[in-house]
Amino acid sequence: MDKFVINGGRTLNGSVAISGAKNATLALMPATILAGGISRLSNTPALRDVTTMSALLRTMGIDIEMREHTLTLDTRGIDKFEAPYEHVKKMRASIYVLGPLVARFGQAKVSLPGGCAWGPRPVNLHIEAIRKLGAEVDLQEGYIVARASHLEGARIHFDVSSVGATGNALMASVLARGTTVIDNAAIEPEITQLAEYLVAMGARIAGLGTNRLEVEGVRELHAADATTIPDRIEAGTFLVAGALCGGTITLTGAQAGHLTAIIAKLEDAGSEISATSDTVTIKAPRKLRSVDVTASIYPGFPTDMQAQWTALMAVAEGASVVTDSIYFDRFKHIPELLRLGADIDVKDNAAFVRGVRSLTGAKVMSTDLRASASLILAGLIARGTTEVLRVYHLDRGYESIEKKLRALGADIKRVTGEEF
Ligand code: UD1
Repeated sequence: MDKFVINGGRTLNGSVAISGAKNATLALMPATILAGGISRLSNTPALRDVTTMSALLRTMGIDIEMREHTLTLDTRGIDKFEAPYEHVKKMRASIYVLGPLVARFGQAKVSLPGGCAWGPRPVNLHIEAIRKLGAEVDLQEGYIVARASHLEGARIHFDVSSVGATGNALMASVLARGTTVIDNAAIEPEITQLAEYLVAMGARIAGLGTNRLEVEGVRELHAADATTIPDRIEAGTFLVAGALCGGTITLTGAQAGHLTAIIAKLEDAGSEISATSDTVTIKAPRKLRSVDVTASIYPGFPTDMQAQWTALMAVAEGASVVTDSIYFDRFKHIPELLRLGADIDVKDNAAFVRGVRSLTGAKVMSTDLRASASLILAGLIARGTTEVLRVYHLDRGYESIEKKLRALGADIKRVTGEEF
């Protein structure tokens, strides 16, 4: 188990290249199941979650090779239609194979993901959508077992906007007979990229980027290539690092249009931000102001940035409230931030933050991906040395974060191979 050792207080300056979006890649990879052929996904981030998805897809008979951020997937040999518990327990996004397997092969057996580090994460909407499309779905010994001679177009209305369930419903419906309408569909950019990719494979989908998707089923799809969109959460995390650590940072390969809520809140906090078609530059505020945020569905402030925002507010002038309207109990980073000297109370789904003058280095423990990012950000401004333990969570979603931060001037190193 690796740890990061950070000596806080360095000003960050310079430019940093943003990697491809984890959550787009994790949808595009299973989408290749829908056709037999060779697909290339460029700008794929080198992340542990991508390795986990690759391992799962290989068990089904897909050949996969990653070279210089291009993932090549050969789906001509698929001969197993199962996602075993051993893989799904490592990564919930494994459930994305459900829709494409049922659509193309009429069968799927996918382990139920179970909860995650910060609480329950149901998959009822995924199952209901596949059922609506005509599959028979049973829950057997911890597995979702789905069968269908063919899928039939249907009206699907999601009570809750769900990224994953929208992705699964889309991937299942593109090969269904007739028309499917998905209402209250997620409009996160990663879902829009998935829809665009399906269209490139020959699918007929109207309403891309809106919360009403209309799919005209086709008989078959063909393999296609895609370039993964930039990771808006990695981008947001580096913008927060810029606001925290003084100096001026330019993100390259970033898309400001996907970051509107984050940029607006950073400006409210006193940062100066400018953007071009593929860069975003942040000049840190002279005085960081407290700003409330409520994490909500896109284009709202992302829940995946809530923990990082809380770290920023921990040292802002004044008090703020950080609310999460998507995951009510995603606050595992707070007790660790308290160990660094933050002043925060959690009540229900909100963190009440009173900004302190400074944080002080300590040993802290990562509990999940975004909590880890929050602790690293806090470590960058804490006085003295912060050790962030169990950073394997971080490797799920940030490519070489320590190298990228070091290039900006941070004093951070990874210590490998010991049991911490
Ligand atoms: C995706 C992202 C994750 C992000 C989340 C919310 C991927 C791989 N992961 O997760 O990083 O934090 O979107 O932006 O893209 N829900 C149900 N029943 C379901 C499914 C979801 O009640 O069957 C609820 C969830 O509990 C949650 C809400 O819907 O309250 C939204 O979750 P969802 O959008 O499905 O998240 P994921 O797709 O799992």
